[in-house]
Amino acid sequence: MDEVANYNRERWKALNAADALFTRPQLELDIRSAGLQADPHQRLGDIRGLKVLFLGGGGGKQSVAFGLLGADVTVADLSPEQLEGDRSAAERHGLAVRTVEADMRDLSVFAADSFDIVDQPYSINLVPDCREVFRQVAAVLRPGGWYRVVIANPFGMGVRQRDWNDGGYSISEAYIDGARLTWDDQEWVYDRGLKADVPKPVEYRQTLGRVLNGLIDLGFRVEHFSETIDIHPDVNGEPGTWDHYVAFVPPWFSILARLEN
Ligand SMILES: C[S@@+](CC[C@H](N)C(=O)[O-])C[C@H]1O[C@@H](n2cnc3c(N)ncnc32)[C@H](O)[C@@H]1O
Repeated sequence: MDEVANYNRERWKALNAADALFTRPQLELDIRSAGLQADPHQRLGDIRGLKVLFLGGGGGKQSVAFGLLGADVTVADLSPEQLEGDRSAAERHGLAVRTVEADMRDLSVFAADSFDIVDQPYSINLVPDCREVFRQVAAVLRPGGWYRVVIANPFGMGVRQRDWNDGGYSISEAYIDGARLTWDDQEWVYDRGLKADVPKPVEYRQTLGRVLNGLIDLGFRVEHFSETIDIHPDVNGEPGTWDHYVAFVPPWFSILARLEN
């Protein structure tokens, strides 16, 4: 395991110990809410019986929705604590889920063409080069299969809520591929008051050129793009609050692509 992987393993262990906001499994889903969550833009069709890989997707927040809709779900994640979240969410809903400890940059544990869908919640910016991951995804995905990946808005990385400045949020970091960025976690991540010794986030900028060309070069066709995942922008809100900030700086982009035959 290299330094990048080690750092993340330790960080996610500490985040779980702190019961941080984004480590909590979803324990109350039903078929309707599962459908809205799994396929918000209604592109995937009937997923019953499809083999779905959640990549860097541990924590039990996303996998259970696909399980409820009848998919055959595997979660691959570096963190044993995060994978435990998927097992408890599955158990709570009476579902089966396969969990595999793996680095997203090495999916050789899976057979070629073995998944119909690879769904990657926000995690790709935790490694320096997204193209390494795309190559692995293309290998395990069957031709015609779907890949959904959430990336950090590369123009917004490094811009913080507190950077409101006379009518705008200031950009102070250069737009460089693979640049390593670090900052303090938002306070609301620790809304249960247990923040102790959690290593800071360390993430890597992936420019849009690298992301889109990385997908295109491997034969992916982009089918849908969204920049409004899990946010409630409020352009009239108080400057420096999260809802106001995201009205100016959408934090994440979601790309849905299909591997051509
Ligand atoms: C933000 S979470 C994504 C899923 C989470 N349930 C959510 O709600 O967003 C990021 C995940 O990436 C995992 N991770 C970090 N580095 C990884 C790597 N190199 N390979 C696989 N998983 C990794 C972490 O353990 C963590 O579970």
